[in-house]
Amino acid sequence: MKGNSVIYSLFLSTSLFLTNCEKTNEPVKNNKIENLLSQMTLDEKIGQLNQYSIGAELTGPGAKEGINKIKYDHLKNGKVGSVLNLLGAKNGRETQKFVVEESRLGIPLITSYDVIHGYKTMFPIPLGESASWDLELMESTAAVAAKEAAAAGIMWTFAPMLDISRDPRWGRVMEGAGEDTYLGTEIGKARIRGFQGNDLSDVATIAACAKHFAGYGFSEGGRDYNNVYLGKHQLLNTILPPFKAAAETGVATFMNAFNDIDGVPSTANEYLLKDLLKEEWAYDGAVVSDWGSIAELVPHGVAQDSAEAAQMAITAGSDIDMEGYTYIRNLKQLVESGAINESLIDDAVRRVLKLKEDLGLLDDPYKYFDEDREKEVLLNPTHLALSREAGRKSIVLLKNEGDLLPLKVKNIAVIGPLAKDKDSPIGNWRAQGEKGSAISLYEGLTEALPDVNFSYAQGCKLSIGANDFAHEVEIENSDRSGFKEAVEVAKKSELVIMNLGEPAYMSGEARSRSEIGLPGLQLVLLKEVYKVNKNIVLVLMNGRPLTLQWEAENIPAIVEAWHLGSMAGHAIADVLTGKYNPSGKLPMTFPRSVGQIPTYYNHKMTGRPSTEPGMVFYSHNMDIDNSPLFPFGFGLSYSTFEYSPIALSKEAINKGEKVTVSVTVKNTSDVDGEEVVQLYIRDVVGSITRPVKELKGFKKLMIKAGESAQVDFEIGEEDLAFYRKDFTFGTEPGDFEVFVGTNSTDVQTATFKLN
Ligand code: NOJ
Repeated sequence: MKGNSVIYSLFLSTSLFLTNCEKTNEPVKNNKIENLLSQMTLDEKIGQLNQYSIGAELTGPGAKEGINKIKYDHLKNGKVGSVLNLLGAKNGRETQKFVVEESRLGIPLITSYDVIHGYKTMFPIPLGESASWDLELMESTAAVAAKEAAAAGIMWTFAPMLDISRDPRWGRVMEGAGEDTYLGTEIGKARIRGFQGNDLSDVATIAACAKHFAGYGFSEGGRDYNNVYLGKHQLLNTILPPFKAAAETGVATFMNAFNDIDGVPSTANEYLLKDLLKEEWAYDGAVVSDWGSIAELVPHGVAQDSAEAAQMAITAGSDIDMEGYTYIRNLKQLVESGAINESLIDDAVRRVLKLKEDLGLLDDPYKYFDEDREKEVLLNPTHLALSREAGRKSIVLLKNEGDLLPLKVKNIAVIGPLAKDKDSPIGNWRAQGEKGSAISLYEGLTEALPDVNFSYAQGCKLSIGANDFAHEVEIENSDRSGFKEAVEVAKKSELVIMNLGEPAYMSGEARSRSEIGLPGLQLVLLKEVYKVNKNIVLVLMNGRPLTLQWEAENIPAIVEAWHLGSMAGHAIADVLTGKYNPSGKLPMTFPRSVGQIPTYYNHKMTGRPSTEPGMVFYSHNMDIDNSPLFPFGFGLSYSTFEYSPIALSKEAINKGEKVTVSVTVKNTSDVDGEEVVQLYIRDVVGSITRPVKELKGFKKLMIKAGESAQVDFEIGEEDLAFYRKDFTFGTEPGDFEVFVGTNSTDVQTATFKLN
């Protein structure tokens, strides 16, 4: 019943009253948006633009006291168009029935929820899953998440998050696809296809939401909700492409970002919402605000009060007010006073009604509320199998010196606060993933290797007190009482698996960090264990890139295992035992230190990329190398791959032509393995400064031991085009470098010309 107690108690206390109410509404006619619109009063139209949270789940600042009565009245009177956080087929049906039967026109509600990396079956956090570079896989996990959510009465998710970010201090990087525009675009499209399928009215699919529009990943200092300063070229070339592609893929909705960009909050940004999204991109879906983001125009200091905030947001093109109370309180008066034209409201209402029609609600308001289907679909064993598959494909092998992995020895110590933690792997945006329901690493290992003698020590605690979505995580910083036991078990073992990282709620919304090393006492513990046993496999569970300078220098084997979801322990055991040969590649750079941030592979050259040896006059820090600890695209395998030089089909192409870029990749090991072959380009001279490298393609393929595969990529004009100095989109003739390799740093190089 979690997630529904608010509305549920509302119903209990008023049930008598409800049964005595007379239905006054006209039946809703299918697919008759204009007809419906013409019957609506101004109040009813505004109601369609009003969204309330009516579950017990709080995904934003708490609902004010006494608000439930208002919400109840508004639901009854057709003054609510959609709700979030109302869960379960039974509750959904009751609420829908109430709205359909009680309100004058009986327009059904849309239900929505943050289904980010699973509904009940949890999949890897999006950043982790992005490390699989497996688009089909990501489409499938989104499709399963949609199927489970839809079975539980949810019709609309606020995902995927398409924010490109180069700042691992920002906790929300866990929810996106990392730092790269091309990869982020492809992954965004795959997730949208997965959530929405081919038919939004199918009860196994849900509407998706391209968020946060725009610039949210560029908050100053990586601090959530903070201000953003961007150049327009950066906006157009780096941040917006995943959103444009989402609109072209048919994403049902967009969500505003909380932040401003150079002084203009995205929620009231006419350029973004009206000029670009709705006019230039001809987008006909609905734009929802983020939680309270219209009301937040007041604290932002661009609106005097809630009325001005509503006026600014509706004028800019924000269609739905999520938990902001500004539209419901002010739009009517704004129309009546002539401050805004009713046609603005009509346009927004049409978009909401279109979504209702596309979801099939105008034909059958109850189609998503089937308790039998809900029981049958949730936690279906095939979903868990997919979670395991997604988990192991998301793991990145960062280091494997001396071939410690796959595991060979029979006497292993498992140490660390996460080793028996069944909760952290569930991740932050866990929807209805049950607390403590993941397979822990210890469980996974002991089940996979029954003949191995495992010993265990926690070593230290990671956090103290409540660990939940809404409160600050308190990290344990002083209790070293478990160190002794950890050192003892390490001494007696042939090899130590240290399971360290971040708890689930250390990344996600409002989880920015100023230091991104292993939190608490974990590094101290690691160093103590290292003193007595150097055969260490460090298994990391975290929601963001970490700074791991000491670890990378000293620990022979490092495995990045993110927060992998329900089957985390099995997925990691699959990799550690060699049952699955790791194939993940980092979707985001791991910096050497916080001071290096932002560090990302596709930076610009600058006017001073280098200088004469021994001189200081170039762009660098005097105390640390410019290179990252682990670059974008990096990840090892138990196989080794050798790349041939690049062969190009042509040395020069004319506009409209394509060049084929070919390499042969040989698996030089005796283990079959998958490799992600990555293609980058560089536009050597442009009308604006251009990145030193840009990902333009990748192919993930299995290459059998000792065998070779030829990989071909085609590069055409569209791959070379960008928003130029005058902000037009197109190519510029000149020299291009092309790179193919196993990550963004280790590449083969060739050049061609665009005439
Ligand atoms: C705020 C978050 O920024 C957004 O991504 C989420 O969808 C909403 N809260 C609703 O929970």
